[in-house]
Amino acid sequence: MLITRHAEALVVLADARYVPPPVRQDGREGTLAWLRAHVSRFSTGDTHTGRRRLVVDRLAALDPAELRTAARARTLERDGDWRGVPTEVLGTALGVRDTGAVPAAANGYLSGEESPEADAAVAKLLAQADLPAVTLLLQAHAATEGLIENALRHADHGGDVDALLRETLRHDPPLKATRRLDTVTGDEVTIDLVAANRDPGVFAGPDSFDPARADAPHLTFGHGVRPCPAPVHALALAAGVLEVLL
Ligand code: HEM
Repeated sequence: MLITRHAEALVVLADARYVPPPVRQDGREGTLAWLRAHVSRFSTGDTHTGRRRLVVDRLAALDPAELRTAARARTLERDGDWRGVPTEVLGTALGVRDTGAVPAAANGYLSGEESPEADAAVAKLLAQADLPAVTLLLQAHAATEGLIENALRHADHGGDVDALLRETLRHDPPLKATRRLDTVTGDEVTIDLVAANRDPGVFAGPDSFDPARADAPHLTFGHGVRPCPAPVHALALAAGVLEVLL
C-alpha cells in the first residue's frame, strides 16, 4: 500500500501496529547485519523503547548551538569543502575521532545491502565507540548531507538559513519515503514523504518553494512512535555549514 496523504501518514506513523520491516537477526557479531539487528531504528516494542532511550540520552548531552558553531568553523577551515563536516563535527562531539568509515557503513545501514566494505567500516567504527554513538553517526550522515545539498539547490530564494532549511525539509526532503509492515494484515506500507509534504489539503500552493511559509507540519523527521530524535541537531549541523556557503 502506498500512502500519499498527510492525514493517513500521521495515522500509520502513530500506530504501533505498523513496524519497520524486520531485518535479519543472524549476522555475525560486529558486521553490518549485526548492527542493524541491534539498533533502535529497526527494533519494535519494548526493545525499541529501550534502545531509543540510549540514543536520546546521548543526544541530550550534546549542545546544538555548539554543533552549529563547530560546523561553521570547520567549513571555514576547509574553505567551503563541506562534505564530511557534519559527520566529523558530530563524531567529535560523541568522542569518535576518525569518522572516515561512516560513509561506507551508512551506505548499507538503511538499505541493508551487505558488503565486505560495509562490514569493515562498521568494525572500524565499533572499535572506537559504542552502539548508540555509532547509530547516531550512521543515522545522521546521509540525511544531513542530503539536506545541505538540497538546500543549496534552493539558495537563490533568499531568506535566512533557518527558513531555507525549513522549507527545504518540506519541499525537497533528503529522505523520500519510509516503510512499515502492517503486523495485522502482513501488508507492506510505503509512506511517500514527498507527496505527504505537498498534500494540498494541508499546504497552500504545495509545489511552490516558499521559505516565508509559516512553520509547516512536514513529515520529514517522521512522527508518532519513532520520529527522528535529532531534528534540532540535524538543523544545527546543516545551518552551521550553510552559514559559510551562502
Ligand atoms: C536532515 C536530517 C535528518 C532527517 C531528515 C532525519 C529523519 C529521520 C526519520 C524520518 C526517522 C524515522 C524513520 C522512520 O520513522 O521510519 C529518523 C530516525 C532517526 N534519526 Fe534522524 N534524521 C536526520 C538527521 C539525524 C541526525 C543528525 C541524527 C543524530 C544526531 C539522527 C538520528 C536518528 C535516530 C537515532 C533515529 C532512530 C530513532 C528510533 O529508532 O526511534 N537523525 N530520522
